[in-house]
Amino acid sequence: MAAFTYYIAAILLILLPAVTFSDIASDRAALLALRSAVGGRSNLWNISEPNICVWAGVACSRDHSTVVELHLPGVGLSGVVPPNTIANLTNLQTLSLRYNALVSPLPSDLGKLTNLRNLYLQHNLFNESIPDFLFSFINLVRLNLAMNSFSGPITTSFNNLTRLGTLYLEENQLSGPLPDLNIPGLVQFNVSNNNLTGPIPKAIAVKNPKSAFVGTSLCGQPLNDLCDNGVGHDGGKKKKKKLSGGAIAGIVIGCVVGVLLILLLLLCLCKKRGNKNAAPVASKSVEAGVKETAVEIPREKSVESVERDGLGGGFAAIGAKMKDKEKVEGGNVGGKSLVFFGKTPKAFDLDDLLKASAEVLGKGTFGTAYKAGLETGITVAVKRLRDVVVSEKEFREKMDGIGKMDHANLVPLLAYYYNREEKLLVYEYMPMGSLSALLHGNKGSSRTPLNWETRANIALGAARGITYLHSQGSSHGNVKASNILLTTTYQARVSDFGLAPLVSPTPTPNRVAGYRAPEVTDARKVSQKADVYSFGVLLLELLTGRAPTHALANEEGVDLPRWVQSVVREEWTNEVFDLELLRYQNVEEDMVQLLQLGIDCTDNYPDKRPSMPEVTEKIEELCRTFNSQDSTGIMEDA
Ligand SMILES: *[C@@H]1O[C@H](CO)[C@@H](O)[C@H](O)[C@H]1NC(C)=O
Ligand SMILES: *[C@@H]1O[C@H](CO)[C@@H](O)[C@H](O)[C@H]1NC(C)=O
Repeated sequence: MAAFTYYIAAILLILLPAVTFSDIASDRAALLALRSAVGGRSNLWNISEPNICVWAGVACSRDHSTVVELHLPGVGLSGVVPPNTIANLTNLQTLSLRYNALVSPLPSDLGKLTNLRNLYLQHNLFNESIPDFLFSFINLVRLNLAMNSFSGPITTSFNNLTRLGTLYLEENQLSGPLPDLNIPGLVQFNVSNNNLTGPIPKAIAVKNPKSAFVGTSLCGQPLNDLCDNGVGHDGGKKKKKKLSGGAIAGIVIGCVVGVLLILLLLLCLCKKRGNKNAAPVASKSVEAGVKETAVEIPREKSVESVERDGLGGGFAAIGAKMKDKEKVEGGNVGGKSLVFFGKTPKAFDLDDLLKASAEVLGKGTFGTAYKAGLETGITVAVKRLRDVVVSEKEFREKMDGIGKMDHANLVPLLAYYYNREEKLLVYEYMPMGSLSALLHGNKGSSRTPLNWETRANIALGAARGITYLHSQGSSHGNVKASNILLTTTYQARVSDFGLAPLVSPTPTPNRVAGYRAPEVTDARKVSQKADVYSFGVLLLELLTGRAPTHALANEEGVDLPRWVQSVVREEWTNEVFDLELLRYQNVEEDMVQLLQLGIDCTDNYPDKRPSMPEVTEKIEELCRTFNSQDSTGIMEDA
């Protein structure tokens, strides 16, 4: 007997590692098969790394014997997930493929994953009926199929999922009645924006708000549309349909008449316009009062030519133009010299600047920025403002205000030049470029990942710079990643402050829109609370690695704060973080805190947002842990 026991134990000892080994090996094979089928950023997995548990988005059991979580949210996966991929991760408990571009059918063998507790498939392109294998996931707690095109009925089979706490089905093509679901723990529920019809079962109605059912043809509580109780549902519905048919006819007729009226009106207006154009003199002087630089077309052309000249031409074109202008106007309109600020030694003058080699750094909200290499060896950044709408006096006052700002986390304004045609701002040149370029440029394999410490310190520097501006009674007005410039040691310097009130609203609002607080309708009306909002978006950008100015992976119109909130709502905070950040597992708690700060700053209500000093203090706390120790890495050796 003893020998037998010994024998069994020996077999187990031999087998156990073999079993675990084959588990992780088949998991690896499954992940590789998935990667080659759906691509996206799973292509960034380092497949020469033998330990799959460190691959981004992959989480293993404690003993590293098998994969238990796979998170691939918003990483550009596309196409069909074939069988023998995910389903072979037999111990999977959490699967998140949300915010990708995956299409139907779901792999039929997925039903093997009976340990699955969380399944997030929202915001893909699935268009089949809800597959039956879902109902074999008896351990499922969270299920999110929202924002796809799932069709067909919602069946009573959902009652098999007795542990379900979350069921999100909104924004699909589901049709038919809503069955009576009897799942005691179901606390998060949404079927809005589907083609569902009929009454809302009482048990569901009492537990959920109206917003869980909007955009459907459901009736009864908590919606205001009463069901027809007297007649059977069919009779009631027919009646309703007929009525709405009549209504539609009315609307159509109304529309046709309306369109005709509008066309007539337009015709009249056009005629009037034509008459106006024939006599232009009167209107011009009015416009000139509003907008000094009304004669725009030739000027745009000159900008282009300067840019094309690039390094060779320098500012010569601008200079020549300015000289012409002076001749025409018969002298020195706005003073020929640069106005310098503060401690800046007057190491160059306007002529030096105009002789400098110029390279376009970028076209910003307020004008084009150039890198200017002076003959004396100094390099400065020159911003050529466009569409300045304030008077000379006001301009010079504002410049004095900006020139007085003096803080280690601001890009100092060294000097400016003003005449009616040209407004040039001369700044210190920042060779490392902007945070935006650092985060979103060069996503290739050669790129140095930006670690948590660096990102947090950049956030801190930027926060201090903006806090200083606020302490001076000023607002920035245009906080965004491309206005956070970096020193060679990755210290943040805030640039472009104070310019928003000088310049007419940007012709490309979308580029700023991602950062703009909802209450801001006129970009020139800056406020400190709007700065806080923009800074919050910047924090979210730092943490997620997503540019707020681009539509997120295949989701039109969802801004970054709303996206982050939708993900965090489900307590899977990890999914929002930049894959590059997920390598640093011991700082997760700090990352979550900074994320929460970003969410607080982007509150829709200005009064609920924290102040910049509060924001700075919070980030200082988070940075204290590593800034007190002597940290290694990018901060020190750069
Ligand atoms: C990939 O993994 C291998 C093995 O661990 C490692 O030597 C290599 O540096 C990694 N490559 C990258 C780009 O991280
Ligand atoms: C349900 O989803 C819709 C979007 O389709 C959203 O507007 C609504 O707030 C959600 N309601 C609940 C209770 O989650």
